[in-house]
Amino acid sequence: MTKAKIIGLGSYYPKKVLTNFDLEKMVETSDEWIRTRTGVEERRIAADDEFSSDMGTNAAKEALKDANLNGSDIDFILVATLTPDYIFPSTACLIQENIKANNAAALDIQAACSGYVYALTLAKSLVEAKTYKNVLIVATEKLSSIVDYKDRSTAILFGDAATACVVSLDGKGLEIKSTFLAASGKEADLLILPAGGSKLPASIQTVKEKKHYIQMKGKEVYKHAVRRMKEAIEICLKDANLTEKEISWLIPHQANERIIDAIAKRFEHLESDKVFKEVVHKFGNTSASSVGLALDILKKENRIKPKEKILLTVFGAGFTWGACILENN
Ligand code: ACO
Repeated sequence: MTKAKIIGLGSYYPKKVLTNFDLEKMVETSDEWIRTRTGVEERRIAADDEFSSDMGTNAAKEALKDANLNGSDIDFILVATLTPDYIFPSTACLIQENIKANNAAALDIQAACSGYVYALTLAKSLVEAKTYKNVLIVATEKLSSIVDYKDRSTAILFGDAATACVVSLDGKGLEIKSTFLAASGKEADLLILPAGGSKLPASIQTVKEKKHYIQMKGKEVYKHAVRRMKEAIEICLKDANLTEKEISWLIPHQANERIIDAIAKRFEHLESDKVFKEVVHKFGNTSASSVGLALDILKKENRIKPKEKILLTVFGAGFTWGACILENN
């Protein structure tokens, strides 16, 4: 059976750079602390009048160009975001209009930082079942809109960016060989934006209590992230009938360099030169966009050789997690 592939990639980063030295002036922290605990050097911050749909539109246009397609060739749009422009309408509908994808159905998915791999899995199913032909995936995050820049435990971690790809049966590209997804709602409270939904609608009280900002139990999230991404890698390798030796690039969720190193250390053959970390250094944690940005950098810089296999693994609020193996064909 012909397998789904990624036939075009694109990304967008806002211009404004927020360095660790800038953060030193905002909260009690230091460049040294941030680098050693997280690996983050700087992150991008969207302009006041630049939203998730705008960044996602820019990334989508670049991915369409890379795939040699127009908006009208797309028949399904999946947008992974935890920072949509609105609760409704969906950001997917806003992007559909911006790129004139008039023949496309449009849907947002909310799997937090795991959104890109969740979307790849759905897109693979849609195109391999021949329900849809060309699926556009966009991951876009304006995390600066939900970060409390007075809370040093979260302010240092997150950044804004968007990435996109086109998944299709036609053309050449990165074949989606296998994917694995999982979730556990038991830990929902460990990483949460408490207000703004139907449980705690926006009120003067919720604003006073800062309940519209990310709240995270960092240490617990860290432990679950390492354990779950390691498991996901093992399951996905087994499913694809591959060994870790056959993987040329490991792209873990770019949340924290220490989490990435802790995962890689649990495998004998995933040496450091195979483990991608550049996005966490330069962009911080961009949630759903994270692994797609990394993939786009590797592809654009021609660092993926023919037939090489890439393993993406993700973890996010929910908790949600997963993995995906791609082959450069
Ligand atoms: N600057 C300086 N000191 C700080 C800072 C800061 N920015 N933040 C915390 N500290 C202090 C704490 O107050 C604490 O001080 P104390 O010992 O006097 O109490 C000390 O540093 C250690 O704090 P910890 O929270 O124990 O630090 P830890 O080593 O756990 O690092 C971190 C914190 C970086 C948040 C880490 O727990 C982590 O990365 N967790 C995972 C976070 C993550 O990846 N989340 C996202 C995954 S899912 C998704 O992307 C949505």
